[in-house]
Amino acid sequence: MVASGKGGTGKSTVSVLLGGRLAAHGKRVLLIELDSGLRSVDIISGVYGKTVYDIEDVLSGRCEGDKAVVQSPLYPGLSVISAPYEGGVVETAGLQRLCRAMADVFDFILLDTAAGMGAPFKAAAACAGQCLLVLPPDPVSLRDGRIVSDALYEQGLREIRLVVNRLAPHTFKNGAVRDLDECIDTVCAQLIAVIPESAELQRAAAAGSALPVDCAAFEAFDRLARRLLGQRVGLLVR
Ligand SMILES: Nc1ncnc2c1ncn2[C@@H]1O[C@H](COP(=O)(O)OP(=O)(O)OP(=O)(O)O)[C@@H](O)[C@H]1O
Ligand SMILES: [Mg+2]
Repeated sequence: MVASGKGGTGKSTVSVLLGGRLAAHGKRVLLIELDSGLRSVDIISGVYGKTVYDIEDVLSGRCEGDKAVVQSPLYPGLSVISAPYEGGVVETAGLQRLCRAMADVFDFILLDTAAGMGAPFKAAAACAGQCLLVLPPDPVSLRDGRIVSDALYEQGLREIRLVVNRLAPHTFKNGAVRDLDECIDTVCAQLIAVIPESAELQRAAAAGSALPVDCAAFEAFDRLARRLLGQRVGLLVR
């Protein structure tokens, strides 16, 4: 599962780009967006306008899971189930059934959650084997990330990893957060990736196009994917 606490930290962006790189490394990847009413995965992954059924249709029994799966035209090998445009509560038992069924077909299932710790978060936490906490390196987001991390730990999810997103050259200069060690210490989770602030990423998301391969953010997502696959690669893109 991909979570954060605060909204707008980059969960959906990381879910799509990570999914794309895992798929590029030969893994079968399903990304399920659980953020009802505030879709964004459809634009970032390019499935916008191609979706007939969404996760609510699946969870409410209106269609089978495979009917709602759409291939990303931007990131080959990445399959997506979108959130509905409005309404719908993500029910835990239904999501668990879907994940169990899909685990036969996919190597990775990424659950992109909504901000906060509401129903999508709780349902995802009941299904997930690991959580990626996507947080920008500011004190408030990191503190909220710690609250989320503690809540997951209480629920029995122990595999929690920190993805520091939007690291800029000036980030640690204003003194609000000293360095990456302080991010790790505040959240109390192992650091698995550092994604740079990226104009290319914003342009790609806005245009609904693929992230160019020759930018630092692309390299950072590839490193995250390879680290999840057990490869020994460094954290920082120079
Ligand atoms: N590394 C980055 N560099 C630059 N912009 C980024 C980066 N990561 C995310 N963004 C931008 O931040 C905004 C929010 O990203 P995104 O929608 O992925 O966040 P989210 O956590 O999924 O939000 P929500 O809580 O609403 O679901 C988007 O405009 C996205 O392009
Ligand atoms: Mg989102």
